[in-house]
Amino acid sequence: MSGHFFTFEGCDGSGKTTVMERVYEILTAEGIPAVKTREPGGVPIAEQIRKVILDNGNTAMDIRTEVLLFAASRRQHLVEKVLPALSEGKVVLSDRFVDSSLVYQGYARGAGIERVRNVNDYAIEGLWPEATYFLDCEPQICLARIHSDAGHEENRLDNETLQFHNRVYEGFRELVRLYPERVIPVDGRRTIEEEAQQIAADIKARLERSR
Ligand code: TMP
Repeated sequence: MSGHFFTFEGCDGSGKTTVMERVYEILTAEGIPAVKTREPGGVPIAEQIRKVILDNGNTAMDIRTEVLLFAASRRQHLVEKVLPALSEGKVVLSDRFVDSSLVYQGYARGAGIERVRNVNDYAIEGLWPEATYFLDCEPQICLARIHSDAGHEENRLDNETLQFHNRVYEGFRELVRLYPERVIPVDGRRTIEEEAQQIAADIKARLERSR
């Protein structure tokens, strides 16, 4: 495996998707072969699983079912999209990955970070990202951004209270504490450009060191 795998995490509305797109532009403009993706990433099996998870009608879904379905969707996306790109030597940028399950299901919904990690270890076979950029932005700011976005489509997981979003935020901060070498907090209250430049510089420095 000669490529490099990086992930972007944060609360809904933290700006991670837009920042990741900009990082992708910066890298490719400099001739670095990169791929951007997000789970389920246009992989039909993963898409079908994801539809079941997010369906507004599935209010009876058990938390362990939710953990397993996210892990199943992740597995398929990894096999069909991430691994082939890595074996071609590309830089893969993913909008959310295992850490979202650790935080949303493990921490915020109470399934336990360790337990969710074990399930996901099976799904990803040790393919942890080289670095995970956590767009650190408080939930109140994130939620205000979401509500001002007219194109945002509500799903089952959006029907959550501010208290839940606060727990998600706390969960990400817990990951920074648990995995300080991998999970890097990025001040998410700055401009997209400032955040993207910081991350792109970090990625380039890592690529340089691995030569
Ligand atoms: P997205 O809007 O970033 O695509 O994420 C969709 C929602 O799914 C978001 O509320 C976070 C949630 N989610 C989880 O709860 N667990 C996971 O493992 C992933 C990938 C997303």
